Amino acid sequence: MSTAAIIPAAGLGLRLGGETPKAFREVGGDALLVHAVRGLKAASAADLVCLVVAVPPGTEETVTKELTPYVGDTRLLVVAGGAERSDSVRTALELVPVEGIDCILVHDAARAFVPVDAIERVVAAVRAGAKAVVPAVAVTDTIKQVGPTGEVVATPDRSTLVAVQTPQGFAPDVLRRAHAAGVVGATDDAMLCEALGVTVLTVEGSPDAFKVTRPQDLLLAEALLAERRL
Ligand code: C5P
Repeated sequence: MSTAAIIPAAGLGLRLGGETPKAFREVGGDALLVHAVRGLKAASAADLVCLVVAVPPGTEETVTKELTPYVGDTRLLVVAGGAERSDSVRTALELVPVEGIDCILVHDAARAFVPVDAIERVVAAVRAGAKAVVPAVAVTDTIKQVGPTGEVVATPDRSTLVAVQTPQGFAPDVLRRAHAAGVVGATDDAMLCEALGVTVLTVEGSPDAFKVTRPQDLLLAEALLAERRL
């Protein structure tokens, strides 16, 4: 059996600033999206046979040309994304073949530098029987829950908290059911599965899988890439 991957890359990345949508911002001379695709392809244990990328409407053709050199024998499909991240994933999911796929990965273009071993841990956990799997790292900040005027209402025990990353991995039927249920406001795909009552398993993530969100994240990404190229 094989893996399919969905990359939601249709966000504008307003917190990052600049004119270019986030997935097309360059680090070390390549777009974040290119780095993300290379990472998935490098995870050979995943056996990626189909990649569906959701991009800003109107950029489908350009992105197809840009990514083709990196996908090898993996089938590449590029579609226009939607208004919210989950709309982009849902649109892409409709193009993932049903036959021959035992794991669907959903991976943010913005987490372009996730290491191969973290990707392979996710796939292995799905193949071992988990229905939904997320890579996770411990949180280093103390996290507060706040009310409408910013007042602190609770401080969850930090030892019970993790920050989750992508790629998140799913049994295909579970991901399809989760998206069909259409919960509004989901910020990741695991959340949609939780809403169905599906158990979501965590596996070890990586600090390198940080999400490029703010301008300083681009500096961190450049430094990480320079270190990897040494
Ligand atoms: O905005 P945020 O950083 O949470 O976005 C996570 C990922 O979802 C990014 O790769 C972004 O391009 C993608 N996205 C999308 N469609 C949207 C919004 C975000 O594909 N409408």
